[in-house]
Amino acid sequence: MSANVNRFKQQAAEKAVEYVQSGMVIGLGAGSTAILATRRIAHLLQTGELRDISGVPCARYIGEEAEALGIPLTTLEEHPTLDLTIDGADEVDPNLNLIKGGGGALTREKIVAQASRREIIVVDESKLVPALGTRWAVPIEVLPFGHGSQIKFLESLGASVQMRKKPDGSRFITDQENWILDCNFGPIANPSELADRLNNRAGIIEHGLFIGLATDVIVAGSQGIRYLNRATA
Ligand code: A5P
Repeated sequence: MSANVNRFKQQAAEKAVEYVQSGMVIGLGAGSTAILATRRIAHLLQTGELRDISGVPCARYIGEEAEALGIPLTTLEEHPTLDLTIDGADEVDPNLNLIKGGGGALTREKIVAQASRREIIVVDESKLVPALGTRWAVPIEVLPFGHGSQIKFLESLGASVQMRKKPDGSRFITDQENWILDCNFGPIANPSELADRLNNRAGIIEHGLFIGLATDVIVAGSQGIRYLNRATA
């Protein structure tokens, strides 16, 4: 990862944290960009610039890090509606639809996004694509039972399917103890229609197409920071 990309991620994350106000209950996104926002929030809590924040983490490891940094955690049972969430994305299209789940946390991320009044996505400019699927496969979390049928179904929709593995070659297991199929559809002409088909399939727990969920996208790149929202999309 180039130093520039790391700098862009940091800039996008810090910009997003400007929208966090004392007293808010926030979603803490997963991935290498969103974690920078969580660390920034922890810093502002330590310096006293923010007070009385609590967070719902989108992945177990994020919860562990947030707790270690001193951010009080809460749940969607205690707070079914969140003020805002800051999360990353793998791809962002011109309509602010997303592919998420590169880190495997897509199910919790989507639950948290749907529970949030505002979903602020933080990315470096390399994540902007003309169409979802241009560079990234769609991660699909499946129940282990019947996953062979899901592979066949996904292939019938035009995907080339790969079971996600960890770097040591063992199977990747989600926080819900399910598996991830990375589905390369190529550029997706109609992501809403594909999302509907995936939503209707038993055994597919969740998929990484986030349609209409991002309210704001903060993009950092060589030209500076750009702010996109539904009105500008
Ligand atoms: C985690 O499951 C993902 O949805 C991440 O938010 C996404 O993969 C972006 O991650 P990076 O910020 O590490 O690129």
